[in-house]
Amino acid sequence: MSEILIPLHLGRIGKDAHTNETPSAQFFYQGFFASMTLLLSDYGNYVNRGWIETLNDLDISSIFQRAESDRLYDTEGNTWYDFIGHYGATLFGHYYPPLCNALQSALSTQPPIGTPLGISERAPLLALNLFDKLALRGEWNNWTLTTGAEAVEGALKIAVTVTKRHRILARSQSFHGLSALTLQLNDEASWYKGYETLVDNNRVDFFHDINEAVNLVATNDYAGVIIEPIQAIAGGRRVTAHEAAMLCQACDDNDTLLIVDEIFTGMGRCGHYSAMQALDWVIQPDIILLSKTLTGGLLPSSQLVVRKDYFDIFTTRPGCARLIASTFSGNSLDHIVALESIVQLSQALDDDILRVRQYEFARSLNNLVHQYPELIQQIDSLGSLHFLHFISPEFAWDIWKYLHNNRILTLLCTHSPNTLKLICPINQATEAQLAICNAINYLCDEAQYAS
Ligand SMILES: Cc1ncc(COP(=O)(O)O)c(C=O)c1O
Repeated sequence: MSEILIPLHLGRIGKDAHTNETPSAQFFYQGFFASMTLLLSDYGNYVNRGWIETLNDLDISSIFQRAESDRLYDTEGNTWYDFIGHYGATLFGHYYPPLCNALQSALSTQPPIGTPLGISERAPLLALNLFDKLALRGEWNNWTLTTGAEAVEGALKIAVTVTKRHRILARSQSFHGLSALTLQLNDEASWYKGYETLVDNNRVDFFHDINEAVNLVATNDYAGVIIEPIQAIAGGRRVTAHEAAMLCQACDDNDTLLIVDEIFTGMGRCGHYSAMQALDWVIQPDIILLSKTLTGGLLPSSQLVVRKDYFDIFTTRPGCARLIASTFSGNSLDHIVALESIVQLSQALDDDILRVRQYEFARSLNNLVHQYPELIQQIDSLGSLHFLHFISPEFAWDIWKYLHNNRILTLLCTHSPNTLKLICPINQATEAQLAICNAINYLCDEAQYAS
């Protein structure tokens, strides 16, 4: 097993480890802590005081200096297992060599990074690759943007323009971004506390389950329905193939565009090119949004995959052909890295060793449910994404904190606080997987013994 020091867990390992050092080492660490303290204070003064206060409240002070593969390295020389993976962007781990090489060789050939007159050389090739991998039928366009929120906004603009309707339907507890328009798709008002006036939430209606959405769409009132096939921050709630078919039929019957946000779940995260494919959806939506994994965390980029008829309506309005793009959209470096990441992804999805390793990890997590049914309700795994549902938000928090103290980085789901989310690299080492299983096992044992 790994070097993880379970018996030392309850304190902050980095600092405990330093207490018995020689005088010269102590001197080094004093200087070192002084420089860390200075950095934190500068960060608070010149970057974001609120964030420093939040970390202080959580008793977190680690600063990460280097990232490689499935590990992060902090300024104290500690190694961390990373189960956050740049919020899903680093599907192959940090600085995956084939993606870095693609970027480096692109830099050496000096293509125009922006898009003079709007045309970037590899855009059609990327579009064709995406249509092929997503197994799309019919005619489609792909437009490259910069962030996920920008792609979501683009989709809403197209839906409103095409249908000439104004209302949008979104699922409760979703997350589609932090711009003023995408925040309208969020029914948790705490996300825009203080600037409620910028977020016009009279334009969006929310549904909880798919039957409700189907009934609302039947009112013939909506330009578009936007959904995540798996709601990541809502604890992994899924849309089944049957539900997707019902919703799609309702949209078709009522001329409403179906928008699927795969910004987090798409391109490998769920063990397939899309979560729709991983969940065996038969239907195809009108717009698909992709982002995170495609550029490996090296560059910001998002993709708006749209049925051609609808994009034509949007772009052929006189003078409006590019009114859906910001300065950095269509970036040719993005395209080069995205194309390489598709090559890497097709190999990874065909790799039996990786598949077995993911399966074994999911099985080990599930064994924990059998071992501790009073503490862990359920584990939902799909590809490199795992949701661990604990008995209460308090216990989930204890687990998160304990893992953190053992240098294992994970996330709690904001809209489902009893759920821990593991966002793994597709090629994650078994050492990291064993470490997290053992740590959870240990804390569950302790909790069971204490009760
Ligand atoms: C499902 C989903 N949609 C949209 C976004 C927004 O993407 P970005 O942060 O790049 O604007 C995110 C970001 O996490 C997301 O997970």
